[in-house]
Amino acid sequence: MKVTIVGAGNVGASCAEYIAQKRIASKVVLLDIKEGLAEGKALDLYQTATTLGFNTQITGVTGDYAQTADSDVVVITSGIPRKPGMTREELIGINAGIVQQVSENLLKHSPNATVVVVSNPMDTMTYLALKATGLPKNKIIGMGGALDSSRFKTYLSYALDKPANDIQGMVIGGHGDTTMIPLTRLASYNGSPVSQFLTDEALEKVAADTMVGGATLTKLLGTSAWYAPGASVAYLVDSILNDQKRMIPCSVYLEGEYGQEDICIGVPCIIGKNGVEQIVDIQLNEEEQAKFAKSAEAVRTMNAALSDHL
Ligand code: NAI
Ligand code: 2OP
Repeated sequence: MKVTIVGAGNVGASCAEYIAQKRIASKVVLLDIKEGLAEGKALDLYQTATTLGFNTQITGVTGDYAQTADSDVVVITSGIPRKPGMTREELIGINAGIVQQVSENLLKHSPNATVVVVSNPMDTMTYLALKATGLPKNKIIGMGGALDSSRFKTYLSYALDKPANDIQGMVIGGHGDTTMIPLTRLASYNGSPVSQFLTDEALEKVAADTMVGGATLTKLLGTSAWYAPGASVAYLVDSILNDQKRMIPCSVYLEGEYGQEDICIGVPCIIGKNGVEQIVDIQLNEEEQAKFAKSAEAVRTMNAALSDHL
């Protein structure tokens, strides 16, 4: 199985590292436009193969899309990351041009690939990739909900003082500070609702911390995060390549589901060898449904900025 990752920066390289370490694919190609960067990161990563015990072949190329041919999954992380004080929305103009050009190039060489979009603003870039490539909707998956859910579970783990892996929870909606919806009502500690152990105030704080989870890291690091984003992409790629059929909140094209049409936004999906195999219709209450509608409205407003690219 072959995975191409476009963008050998922080997220792209971390993603390659986790895919290799977890033996998710047999080949990883890193591609960047910055001369030598992908080659250097690939060489450095491949030199960990014998110490870490994996056989995934990792190669790096500068702009040579022929080397990406016949990839099963392509991951788009190319773009500029959010700087401190910059919103994801401000990234749109720059990243739209990059994502459009990259997705078209990738598909020329790997027409059957499933595309995972990471570049921000991710929901809008996913929508753009879908429109630019004309691929069927099950083949275009935006990664954001997997990361936001992992942050949600981390903050729940702190609040409960319990291991993160004993906690279940999902974040749906847009991948933005004000658009994501941590589903606190449905989160559980080994099957028991977390509301049995945490006060409403504590749960509200968990949700608020989750929503600014990316911004918190951007402030601390001076650029946006990469370990958890890279791991979340690898988790998603594993579910596709190894047909895991995990339920993962992903940004996918909606045609009436959750009351929305002609938009890519985060909803729970079954992810397997055919990409998005099912959109799971979980029962939202009125408040959650209203938040989802508001989130979709914000994503739609951002999509309007794509008019030059559609
Ligand atoms: P980075 O700056 O470390 O890496 C981006 C790489 O893309 C650079 O190496 C750059 O040379 C390359 N690039 C730019 N234009 C290109 C082109 N046309 N073709 C090929 N490569 C090109 O940035 P980082 O931290 O890896 O973030 C990448 C993107 O992912 C950003 O847009 C960031 O906001 C987004 N992101 C999204 C997350 C999500 O959950 N969806 C989480 C974290 C980051
Ligand atoms: C993150 O959530 C900025 O989307 C990026 O870390």
